[in-house]
Amino acid sequence: MKSYKIAVIKGDGIGPEIVDEATKVMDAVGKKLDIKFNYNEYLMGGCAYEQTGNPLPDETLKGALSSDAVLFGSIGGYQWDSLPRELRPESGLLRLRSELEVFANLRPVKIYHELSSASTLKEEIVSGVDLMVVRELTGGIYFGKPREKLENKAYNTMVYSKDEIRRIAKIAFEIAMKRDKRVCSVDKANVLEVSQLWRDSVKELAKEYPEVELSHMYVDNAAMQLVRNPKQFDVILTGNIFGDILSDEASMISGSIGLLPSASIGGKVGVYEPIHGSAPDIAGQAIANPIATIASASMLLKYSLNETKASFLIDEAIAKTLKDGYRTPDLSEYGAKKICKTHEMGSVIAGNIGE
Ligand code: IPM
Ligand code: MG
Repeated sequence: MKSYKIAVIKGDGIGPEIVDEATKVMDAVGKKLDIKFNYNEYLMGGCAYEQTGNPLPDETLKGALSSDAVLFGSIGGYQWDSLPRELRPESGLLRLRSELEVFANLRPVKIYHELSSASTLKEEIVSGVDLMVVRELTGGIYFGKPREKLENKAYNTMVYSKDEIRRIAKIAFEIAMKRDKRVCSVDKANVLEVSQLWRDSVKELAKEYPEVELSHMYVDNAAMQLVRNPKQFDVILTGNIFGDILSDEASMISGSIGLLPSASIGGKVGVYEPIHGSAPDIAGQAIANPIATIASASMLLKYSLNETKASFLIDEAIAKTLKDGYRTPDLSEYGAKKICKTHEMGSVIAGNIGE
């Protein structure tokens, strides 16, 4: 029997509820395929700050580094909003990404057929959308120095080296080669020097991928095009902050931010998490949608463990569950036959794991 070591970081808010469903589904698929997952739980975010004074305790980082992959829920909450930046829950996550060197964040946006009316956009605009946002995750303005907040002035630095741009662009081109072979690189090259370098470097790398059609778009236009005609995109390649913003926007194409998973890869150990936050307003009520986290577990199986069959079975089980009309409250108005709680949704998906 194959076995893997998974670092489980549930985090704050709805994190614990949704992560429990993801491990439930992983265990169901493991049972079918004879794979054993050994989970070790670690603290990160607000809960870690409360217990240890540090949003990313050393033990968590060590645990992550000695695992095959990290499954993560969500962090943050209003009660920590006024903490100094380095103690905020978000700083824990940002440091984890940076220490693990997971520079490539993959955020697939797919429409489940049964939910094409759930989008705030018209059905004909969204049906059939299948795009992948490739977001640079360990550089750019999130990490650039100098950075400082003074009394009446504050600044950050958006910085990218050519090497950083090339390595994330390479990931985007490689992914495009397995998809529709189109990459749209998003920047602000009409205003920012860092974007000029971004564009030049992406163009240069593109020569190594003659089969891939490369286009460039300014980020403001891309934000508009995503809601005007999202089907025009295959792979969107972009930097850290633009990717953060565009992926939240793109999630609405799918109808609920509770559906979209992500994979952060390219470094020492991969991190898998839903793209949504900790939703403190609904925490503890068992109404959160666990699908984004379950789909993140599927990405974990695929990208970190190379268990493609297990990953496929999870994707199929999610699709079947939605097809059968099971919905958490966020999607109750769209073809629901049965409204279910977070843990019921997880159980139905686990039960739908096929052979
Ligand atoms: C995300 C989140 C994080 C980010 C926050 C929580 C630091 O918004 O994963 O998209 O900005 O990267
Ligand atoms: Mg975000």
